Amino acid sequence: MEAIYLIGFMGSGKTTVSQELSEKLELAIFDTDREIVKLAGKSINQIFALDGEEKFRVLESEVLHSMPLTDAVVSTGGGIIGSEKNRLFLKERMNVVFLNADFSTIMERLKDDDTRPLLSQDNLEAAEKLYNLRLPLYRETATIEVDASGKSVSLIANEIIQRMKK
Ligand code: S3P
Repeated sequence: MEAIYLIGFMGSGKTTVSQELSEKLELAIFDTDREIVKLAGKSINQIFALDGEEKFRVLESEVLHSMPLTDAVVSTGGGIIGSEKNRLFLKERMNVVFLNADFSTIMERLKDDDTRPLLSQDNLEAAEKLYNLRLPLYRETATIEVDASGKSVSLIANEIIQRMKK
């Protein structure tokens, strides 16, 4: 089966939905952030603080291009679509799912989260700007868009399973 790639903004539910999909479909599960942490030997926050975002993006692209093309669910970091090279890689895949949650849902979900260096609750304007900037990039890259606001993880996973190419 063609691999399923999940894309979308931080807090849109990619991690939980990928877990549900991997269980329902009995597929291996990957998470680009987790692979980056393994490769770098430090946390995402540490990579941003010590090496900078640019270095993080180099690792992210390297990891994305090493992900399996079949029989897997791959959850990706929210900024993966920032690079044209990454968008091209994803556009060659059949099942790229954009989990689209609205901005207020996302900020509510992440209000106590301190693991996302690019998301500051003190600067909502900057976060919303980033969200709006990325929205068209998620849309142009995805083959399937799913509304992820106010739905259970199980419902979202079922909708993806119905709509994807086998
Ligand atoms: C980022 C999203 C994060 C992580 C890093 C940068 C982004 O992943 O890759 O903090 O630029 O949106 P999640 O989307 O899994 O939170």
